[in-house]
Amino acid sequence: MAGLYIHIPFCRQKCHYCNFYTVISQRYRKQFISALKHELELQKNYLENQQVNTIYFGGGTPSMLSTNEIISLIDTVSLNYNVNSDVEITLEANPDDLSSDYLRQIKNETPINRFSLGVQSFYDDDLAYLNRIHNGKHARNAIYEALKLGFNNLTIDLIYGIPTLTNEKWKTNLQTFFDFGLPHLSSYALTVEPKTNLQVLIDKQKIAPTLEDQTVDHFEILLEQTEKKGFIHYEISNFALPGYYSKHNSIYWLGGHYVGVGPSAHSFNGKTRQWNVKSMKQYCEAQIIDQIVLEKEQLTTEQQYNEYVMTSLRTSWGCDTEHIYNVFGEKYARFFTEKVEQYIRKNQIQQVKSIYKLTHAGKLFADGIAAGLFHDF
Ligand SMILES: C[S@@+](CC[C@H](N)C(=O)[O-])C[C@H]1O[C@@H](n2cnc3c(N)ncnc32)[C@H](O)[C@@H]1O
Ligand code: SF4
Repeated sequence: MAGLYIHIPFCRQKCHYCNFYTVISQRYRKQFISALKHELELQKNYLENQQVNTIYFGGGTPSMLSTNEIISLIDTVSLNYNVNSDVEITLEANPDDLSSDYLRQIKNETPINRFSLGVQSFYDDDLAYLNRIHNGKHARNAIYEALKLGFNNLTIDLIYGIPTLTNEKWKTNLQTFFDFGLPHLSSYALTVEPKTNLQVLIDKQKIAPTLEDQTVDHFEILLEQTEKKGFIHYEISNFALPGYYSKHNSIYWLGGHYVGVGPSAHSFNGKTRQWNVKSMKQYCEAQIIDQIVLEKEQLTTEQQYNEYVMTSLRTSWGCDTEHIYNVFGEKYARFFTEKVEQYIRKNQIQQVKSIYKLTHAGKLFADGIAAGLFHDF
C-alpha cells in the first residue's frame, strides 16, 4: 500500500501563518505542469512497483488547477505507476475556488473522489487575522455546493487558538461543521512558525499574540464535541466517522511508503527519505532527478525508531512494543518500556498488552511526550 503526493505551490495570496512552499506568480505555470509530468516519469521506480492506493494533490492551492491540468497529471500517473482501480484521489481546495461550475467540471471530467477544504473558520474576523482570501460565506457556499453535487467524501480544516476566536465562536464553528453532516475534520492549533508574517506582526505588536491557555481550552472543546458526535480521534489533528479515515494520511502515520513530486515534496520508501528542491525555477529547469532531489538520506535505525514513536503515538492505533522489538531490536524495546513508565505513572499514557496510547491528559502534551521517548545515544 503506497501513496503519491503532488505538490501544487500556487496560492492567490500568502496567509500570515503559513510556511509551506508556495508562490503567487503564475509565470512558470505551463512549464511547471510539464516538469511535474517529467518528474512523475523520473520517479516511477521509487515505489518499486508497489500498488498506489492514494493520490493526493496538496498545496499551495491545487484547486487553482484546471480540470485539463488535473486530468493530464492523473493520466501520467496511470501510465507510469501501478494504480489501484479503487484509488482515493484527494484535491485540497480553497473555498473561493469552489464555484458550482468548477465543482461540476471536476465531477464530470476527473476521477477526483475526495475534497479537503481549507475553511479554517466560518467567521470573517478570524479569517482576516489569518490573512485568508476567502470569507465565511465563501466557506459555507463551497461546502453546500460540493454536497449538492454528491461529493460526500469531504473533509474540512479548522484552525483553533486564533486570538479572535472565543470559546463560543469555536463551539459554533464546530457546530456548523456538524450541521453540514461531513464525515471528516482536520483541526490544527494555530502555530506561530518562525519567519512567517504572523511572527513578524506579533513581534511588532501589530496583532494579538496566540495564548496557550486559550489553545488548550479549544483543544478540550474539540475533543469533547467530536466525541459526543461519534467521531473517532484517529490522529492528534484528525477526526472521522467510521469508514472515512484519510487513506492517504494514514499511509504517512502507519509508516507506509509514498512518493512526492513537485517543489518541496518529500518521499519515503522504507530505506530512504528525500526532499525536493524548494524553488519553482530550479524545479522547472531540472532535467534529471539529482537536480530535483535536493537531499537524500539513508535513515539510521535510531531515526526510524524516533519517527515511529513520534507518528504512532499521535494515532489511535498507538505505539506497539512488539513492532519496536521486531523492527528495531531488543535494545530499543527495552529503552522504550523503561522510559514510558514515567508517563504511565502521570496517567498520560495507557498500556494494553504491547500497545501504548496517549490518554486524554497525554494528548495535550503529545509532542513533549514523544520527545521524551526518543533515543539519542
Ligand atoms: C498548507 S495548507 C494547504 C491547503 C490549502 N491551501 C489551505 O490553506 O487550506 C494545509 C493546512 O495546513 C494548515 N496550516 C498551515 N500552516 C499552519 C500553522 N502555522 N498553524 C496551523 N495550521 C496551519 C492550513 O491552514 C491548512 O489547513
Ligand atoms: S492558502 Fe494554504 S498553502 Fe496557501 S498560503 Fe494559505 S495556508 Fe498556505
